[in-house]
Amino acid sequence: MSGPKPGFSRRAFFGGAVASAAAGAAIGVTATGLSEQAANAQAGGQGSAAGTSTAAGETYPFYGEHQAGIQTPPQDHLVFMVFDVTTTSATELQVMLAKWSAAIAQYTQGLAVGTVEPERELAVPGDTGEAAGMGANQLTVTVGFAPSMFDGRFGWAKYKPAVLNDLPAFASDALTPEFTGGDICVQACASDPQVAYHAIRNLARMARTTATTRWTVQGFGRASRSADQATPRNLMGFKDGTRNIVGDDEFAQQVWVGADSDQQWMTGGTYLVARKIHMLIETWDTDYIGDQHAVFGRTKMEGAPLSGAAEFDTPDFAATGADGKSVIPANSHVALAAHENNGGTKILRRGYNFTDGIDSVGRLDAGLMFISFQHDPAQFIALQQKLGSMDRLNEYIRHVGSGVFAVPPGLAAAGDYYGKALFA
Ligand code: HEM
Repeated sequence: MSGPKPGFSRRAFFGGAVASAAAGAAIGVTATGLSEQAANAQAGGQGSAAGTSTAAGETYPFYGEHQAGIQTPPQDHLVFMVFDVTTTSATELQVMLAKWSAAIAQYTQGLAVGTVEPERELAVPGDTGEAAGMGANQLTVTVGFAPSMFDGRFGWAKYKPAVLNDLPAFASDALTPEFTGGDICVQACASDPQVAYHAIRNLARMARTTATTRWTVQGFGRASRSADQATPRNLMGFKDGTRNIVGDDEFAQQVWVGADSDQQWMTGGTYLVARKIHMLIETWDTDYIGDQHAVFGRTKMEGAPLSGAAEFDTPDFAATGADGKSVIPANSHVALAAHENNGGTKILRRGYNFTDGIDSVGRLDAGLMFISFQHDPAQFIALQQKLGSMDRLNEYIRHVGSGVFAVPPGLAAAGDYYGKALFA
């Protein structure tokens, strides 16, 4: 996995290539990822880089085998939005996906699409402007298609992967229509929230007349880690992401769809499961620490398994105490979710803490925007079937939103676009 490219400054942001409305059209991005104008702007030193931090200038490559935003080390901020496609014209959908692809290629490299201040007084600005001068901020944008996209509206039925189906109902589900379903998901992650929001906002703007917004969640703190990151904490105060998938081998085995898939267009892709999980924070905050430890099967500050002393100690699920009971309770979250107890199944967790403020009676409205990636949704389903019915954590959480999406592989080069193979 290649790391971020430092020093790609905000000077380039408004170098300005303009996205073509034509499907598959390239938009003036050179092989280096810089538009000619942007490169000139950089070389000529237009604007000032003052105040631009290293992270602000960092970019992740857009083109490649896999979409960015999956194996990419989790950034600090998320905007997740699900769209409903309103057109029944495959051509209009194709144009929208081509525009999105070209725009995302720009945004993720710190470049804009169109200008904020067009020369003609009567011209509408191409870009909304709120990310001007901010840099790419490690922005990644990841796009996925729900099962509903393969219902025949666009001629995609023959391309439906056998494993892509609506998720089954799980015990303890409390799903609401406001945060469930939809046709296309877009996950924008960045080290700055405004940069992530700008990308989503402008994609929504481009989609108008073709797709409408259905539901969204803004995450303000990562709740997962990659190999080189410290483990962050979720809103229950526990370290989250300790035993996440981190190595290339595990990504190959558990996350990326292989060439043996029934749909070749998914090779190098993956499946995204989104669950908006509300936490009953007031109830959790009155729970005593011994029970909190038993709920997760780990300690709160260190994050160690209850059978060990340090965060990365391997849990011993067979260990018993003087009372003969399991040291890590069998109904604790980690005992139920661990690969040792699930035939080796693992998933990549890449969730974010979120808050929606307070609810109508003044309770804190917050939780975990759980996002996982796996080569088959069955991996998530098997885990959630156990967790949904037995997890001690269920007393303190409610799954209120849900979606499953096929995430195609990365785009090859300028001119390629999301779903291109599906229009053949
Ligand atoms: C609000 C909901 C959730 C919270 C607060 C939460 C929190 C945690 C915490 C604190 C850990 C232990 C540290 C770690 O290894 O990352 C963990 C582990 C894990 N969680 Fe969750 N989790 C939630 C929902 C889920 C869901 C819905 C799934 C999948 C269906 C899931 C799957 C896992 C897995 C696979 C592990 C690793 C277990 C191990 O190998 O030890 N979690 N979670």
